[in-house]
Amino acid sequence: VADVKGGPDQGLDKLGQSLVITGWVRTLRVQSSVTFVEINDGSCLSNMQCVMDSGAEGYDQVESGSITTGASIWVQGVVVESQGSKQKVELKVNKIVLVGKSDPSFPIQKKRASREFLRTKAHLRPRTNTFGAVARVRNALAYATHKFFQENGFIWVASPIITASDCEGAGEQFCVTTLIPNSHETADSPVDAIPKVNNGLIDWSQDFFGKPAFLTVSGQLNAETYATALSDVYTFGPTFRAENSNTSRHLAEFWMIEPELAFADLNDDMACATAYLQSVIRYVLDNCKEDMEFFNTWIDKGIIDRLSDLANRDVVQITYTEAIDLLSRANKKFEFPVKWGCDLQSEHERYITEEAFGGCPDIKAFYMRQNDDGRTVAAMDMLVPKIGELIGGSQREERLEYLEARLDDLKLNKDAYWWYLDLRRYGSVPHAGFGLGFERLVQFATGMDNIRDAIPFPRTPASAEF
Ligand code: 4AD
Ligand code: MG
Repeated sequence: VADVKGGPDQGLDKLGQSLVITGWVRTLRVQSSVTFVEINDGSCLSNMQCVMDSGAEGYDQVESGSITTGASIWVQGVVVESQGSKQKVELKVNKIVLVGKSDPSFPIQKKRASREFLRTKAHLRPRTNTFGAVARVRNALAYATHKFFQENGFIWVASPIITASDCEGAGEQFCVTTLIPNSHETADSPVDAIPKVNNGLIDWSQDFFGKPAFLTVSGQLNAETYATALSDVYTFGPTFRAENSNTSRHLAEFWMIEPELAFADLNDDMACATAYLQSVIRYVLDNCKEDMEFFNTWIDKGIIDRLSDLANRDVVQITYTEAIDLLSRANKKFEFPVKWGCDLQSEHERYITEEAFGGCPDIKAFYMRQNDDGRTVAAMDMLVPKIGELIGGSQREERLEYLEARLDDLKLNKDAYWWYLDLRRYGSVPHAGFGLGFERLVQFATGMDNIRDAIPFPRTPASAEF
C-alpha cells in the first residue's frame, strides 16, 4: 500500500495498474450493489480502499458474511481514481480470496480502545493505527541511529547480555540461573527445576555454571574495551534494570544506544549527543511524514513543530551547580528538596526542561572522570521536555590510580574489574560516551506518554506476559 499511496501523487501515477494486495480488513461496508473493504498491510498508516461488486471472483464470501474486521485477505484489482474525498485512488477488485477468517470475538474493533486495554492485547495491538505508527517510527529511529553512526565512522560492537559486571554499581541487576538439565521435563513447574543448593535455598549469585552472572544494565564497559582499540564505537541492544519502579519512563527491559569516543572529552561527548539526536529527529520528520501527522493530530498536538525546532536549535548547556541554583531560585515547592549534591528527581527535570529550559548530571558512577575541583565529575545528562532524562553520559576516568582509589572509596571489588583496569594500564586514552534509552527516544519522537507503548512487548514489575 505504501508503494502505491506513499508517493507524491498519492497513487494517481499508478492509475490503470493491476496489482495484488494482501493485508487485514479494517472495515467493511456493504451497500446494495457494492462493497467497500478497507485493507491495511502495515506498510503505512493508510488503508487501501477496495471496491467490489458481484462481478468480482470470490464475492460470494463477502455476501455470506465470512469476511469481517480482522480477517486476512488477498485481493487482485486495478488502481482507479476514487470517488470519495478521503483518498485519491482505490482498488477496483477483480478477485478476492479470504486467507484467514477472523472470529467474531476479535477484540480490536473499530471504536477506539484505551491504551490500558490494548496493553493487555499486546499481540493484537499492532493492528491499530497508533501501534502501527509507533512500530514504523521506532524502526525509522533504529535505522537512523545506525545511519548516523556509520556515516560518522563509528563501528557497531555487540555487547553481551549476560555479564558478571554491574556497570552502574547500583545493584539493580537480574540474576541468571540455570535449570537442572532435563529435570524441567519431569518437574511440575520450571521453578522445581531450579537447582536447590544451600539447604534448599537457591544461591542466586552463583548459578551461571557455578559462577555469578547477571543480565547487563549497560554495555558501556565492554564498549570502552573496543573504543580503546578501534577508536569510535557504539552499541545498540537490550539492557535490563531490576528497579521496581512503576512509572511512565521506566522499563525492566529497554534498549540502549551507547557510543564511546576515544581521544575525546566531555565537550566532544555532548557535541556527539546533540548531533546524533538532531540527526535522528530530522530523519523521522523527513521520512515518516504520514505517521508524524497522525501523532500530531491524535496523540500530541504540536509535536511536529517542537521536534522541528529541536532539530534546528542550539541545545542549552548548564552545569550541575547552575541547575541547582536555578531550582533553588524557582518559585516552586518541590516534593524532594533541592540542595547541592542531591540527584535530580523527575519533578526537577521537568521544571528545568518545561519551565526553565535544559541539562544536568546524575550522581557519580565509579567510572566518571573526576574534575580538578575534586568534588564533581565530568558527566552530563540531556533532558528533554515531557521525558526528562533522555541521555546520560560522561568522560571516563582514564587514570589508573584515580580509578583504583574511586573503586576503593565505593567499596567495589577491584579484582572483578581487572580487565577494565587493564585498559588504563595499556595505552590509556581520554575517552567519553553516553547512553540513550531508545524507548524514551521513541516516546519523545511520537508523543506517546507511557513508555509501555513505545516497545512492542513491555517488561515491567507488573507484567512480562506475551
Ligand atoms: O543514565 P544511565 O543509567 O547511564 C548508563 O547506563 C551509562 N552506562 C550510559 C553510558 O554512559 N554509556 O542510563 C542511560 C539512559 C538514561 O538516560 C535513560 O534514557 C535510559 O538509559 N534508561 C532507561 N530507560 C527505560 N527504562 C529504564 N529503567 C531506564 N534506565 C535508564
Ligand atoms: Mg542517568
